[in-house]
Amino acid sequence: MKFIVLTSLALGLSSADVVTVVPGGSLIPHECILEVSNKDVVSNDKMLAMLPEHCTDSAKDLQFGTQQIYAQDAHLQNTAGLWTNFTGDWIVPPLPSSHDGQVDYHWTGFKSSQPEMGYPVLQPVLQYGQTMQAKWQLQSWYVWGNGGKAVTGPAVDINEGDKLTTYMSFDDDSQTWTVYGKNEASGEESILTITKDALGCDCDFEWAMIVHETIGKKTGYCDDYPADSSGITYTNTRLDGEAVDWTTRVQKTECGEAVNVEDDKVEFTWKN
Ligand SMILES: *[C@@H]1O[C@H](CO)[C@@H](O)[C@H](O)[C@H]1NC(C)=O
Repeated sequence: MKFIVLTSLALGLSSADVVTVVPGGSLIPHECILEVSNKDVVSNDKMLAMLPEHCTDSAKDLQFGTQQIYAQDAHLQNTAGLWTNFTGDWIVPPLPSSHDGQVDYHWTGFKSSQPEMGYPVLQPVLQYGQTMQAKWQLQSWYVWGNGGKAVTGPAVDINEGDKLTTYMSFDDDSQTWTVYGKNEASGEESILTITKDALGCDCDFEWAMIVHETIGKKTGYCDDYPADSSGITYTNTRLDGEAVDWTTRVQKTECGEAVNVEDDKVEFTWKN
């Protein structure tokens, strides 16, 4: 028997593989997501040994009225080199009042090539609706959607009002990336440490992004967003220690979505 682990919204998939949604773009087979512990270092050997060969180029598309999109974001390209350190903190908003299979992601991230879905991304993610769970979790991810694979740290349960602190950083000596997220309320962490080799894409991360990414209905979705309409304010958003002049973008507009930048604060708002 074949079945699909996914949001109920997307059950019209033509693929009969067991697939799951990932932050940063697209669906990939469940067995192409490698979850490691906080202490592991993901090296090339380990990555290759643990992910099946078919995990290259195995991404699937969503269908039937479901849309995965960067609903709101701030992004910036480093044209003069590369950043190696990106910090960001935020408070966990209320759960959505409607639970109809939507996925709601909030993340900071370093992205390769373009500030669009599908390209390789390192990202500490506040996630709702992952594997159909109607709760908040914090999880550190490396996702290459178009390459059909992902590596994660552990998923940590999170409550409304908890403060998250996050960073991504590159250690030049060991050529290793760290994606770090901590729930300051509980002390729990999700850490992904991965060598540049193990990314499999030979990529640099010239884009920095802060994103509200959603998977759900194309219209009539305002109650699928976190409730109470207070939005999320990212603080301490610094690239190599500096506040930057983000370019803001809104790609879903039905709920009054907006992004505002003030020094090292980036504010995402919407109305339910
Ligand atoms: C990253 O930058 C912050 C300042 O924004 C600094 O406190 C932190 O130590 C830096 N982390 C690394 C690994 O360099």
